Amino acid sequence: MCGIVGYKGKDKAIEVVLNGLKNLEYRGYDSAGIAYVQGNKIKIKKAQGKLFNLEENFKNKIESNLAIGHTRWATHGEPNQINAHPHRVGNITIVHNGIIENYNELKNKLNYQSKSDTDTEILAAYINDEYQKNKNILEVLKNINKDIIGSYAVGIIVDNDDSLYCIRKDSPLIIGLAESEYFIASDVPAILDYTNEYYILENDEYAKIADRVDVYKNGKEIKKKKNIFEFDMEAAKKNGYEHYMLKEIMEQPTVLYNTLAAYKNSDDLVDLSKYSEIDIVGCGSAYHVGMAVKYIMEEKFNLPVNVEIASEYRYKKVFYTSKHLVIVISQSGETADTLAALMKAKNLGIETLAIVNVVGSTIAREADKVLYIKAGVEKAVATTKAYTCQLLLLLMLCYRNDLKIFDKLNDDVNDVLSKIDMFKKISKKIINGKDVFFLGRLDDYSYCLEGSLKLKEISYIHSEAYAAGELKHGTISLVEENTPVISIITNKIIADKTISNIKEVKARGAYNVIITNQKIPNDLADEIIYIDNKKEYVGILVIICLQLLAYYSALELGRDIDMPRNLAKSVTVE
Ligand code: F6R
Repeated sequence: MCGIVGYKGKDKAIEVVLNGLKNLEYRGYDSAGIAYVQGNKIKIKKAQGKLFNLEENFKNKIESNLAIGHTRWATHGEPNQINAHPHRVGNITIVHNGIIENYNELKNKLNYQSKSDTDTEILAAYINDEYQKNKNILEVLKNINKDIIGSYAVGIIVDNDDSLYCIRKDSPLIIGLAESEYFIASDVPAILDYTNEYYILENDEYAKIADRVDVYKNGKEIKKKKNIFEFDMEAAKKNGYEHYMLKEIMEQPTVLYNTLAAYKNSDDLVDLSKYSEIDIVGCGSAYHVGMAVKYIMEEKFNLPVNVEIASEYRYKKVFYTSKHLVIVISQSGETADTLAALMKAKNLGIETLAIVNVVGSTIAREADKVLYIKAGVEKAVATTKAYTCQLLLLLMLCYRNDLKIFDKLNDDVNDVLSKIDMFKKISKKIINGKDVFFLGRLDDYSYCLEGSLKLKEISYIHSEAYAAGELKHGTISLVEENTPVISIITNKIIADKTISNIKEVKARGAYNVIITNQKIPNDLADEIIYIDNKKEYVGILVIICLQLLAYYSALELGRDIDMPRNLAKSVTVE
């Protein structure tokens, strides 16, 4: 995800900003840039690729006391030099994190000819346009939320003005404080080499940084509380969380929002109703995403949706028609089996669509069409935020004419994330199991597959997902006193059937955990995780519960959570 660094102070602005950007490299990026004031002029240098390409411009030391820099993780437009930040329009130069949802509308209103493909350039054009009215940048920032829809953390330099300005809404930004030196940054690691004292900007707050920091909201000055970061750089990169996995679980409200915002007002969401049959192909969790959306897609479009494991698909006979679509799902975009399945479909002349996280990856380049999720860099080996963003994007394809149904998704995800204590408590019981079973039917069964994989890969407890009706055909012989059984019931049509299966394991002494949004008999569960939500995206909420159960079980057992044994983040071998 993109990173912002800015500096106002002594003559070392370029050194500080480059160093800050380096400390944000772990977030991932594909281009970088810096704008600095030299004499009375603002100069901009940008480069595609890694930071050393940008550094080439600064082999000879340049003195500057004001600069803003950015590492860009492409969202709107290719990862090239033109699209890299900073963007400059008129008297305004900016770096921006976030997504401007109404940038097309603004562009038309301003009648502005873009040089880049970015929403950020339009934001710069808008700020410049407003600035020209009375040359008062603080007034522009005060009113920005009246016209700009979306998320933004922005660093701003104005021509012939020796101050640094910034504003934020729904994208993080801090202001670092040292002796006669000030910093802005999207993340704490960017400033830690210089100071551990900082203000956190809240939504709609904006600041002028000159020889002191003035923070405002709605035109009124705000007194900010100073924060002190007491941990080391590694902890800062994890945003203070003990593991990347937990950080990534907690990031889900933001990345789901970003994924939603990226496609809300675009024509990119493919119309699936024009196909007669769809194959969804992926490995591991990506395959489970396909399973989760299969039933919804079949109901919605009244067509067969075959979900296939990529390593099988690549060797099997594929039946297809002229109106066939193959959707491949991959976080990394490099998984060997998924790539081979994609190439097979292409060679057969079948249309292909890739759902990918990593921009410019092989699968993204090879597919006829690619839709990127906006999960940002995922570092923990076990996928969490990429899974939920993939599921969201596929659900958006199903409900492309009614995206309003996702309006409350963020609140609902935050609600699940606020129940940490309950997940910790249940995990303490789960880890006593020799085997753990997950039971559910149809889409609920697909969530079981993912919950079971998540638990076994990071806690090393054996677990299996079962289509609830199948258990009594053999596996129930493994259920004994206190065997943990986690059942999922969100699908009303089969709720009673799954309830009957839960009764069967209860009779054999199972420790029953039920995740549900349905009314179920009082005495059935040892623990109920009730999700008060009947929306089409309830699966995302269920999966987050399962991620947290797996995480806290592994934590309790002292496992190497971010790098479980024998596993790799990107599986590029067959
Ligand atoms: C499980 C997990 C894996 C991946 C699988 C596919 O937590 O992360 O099962 O989902 O290896 O990887 P991608 O999505 O990169 O193709």
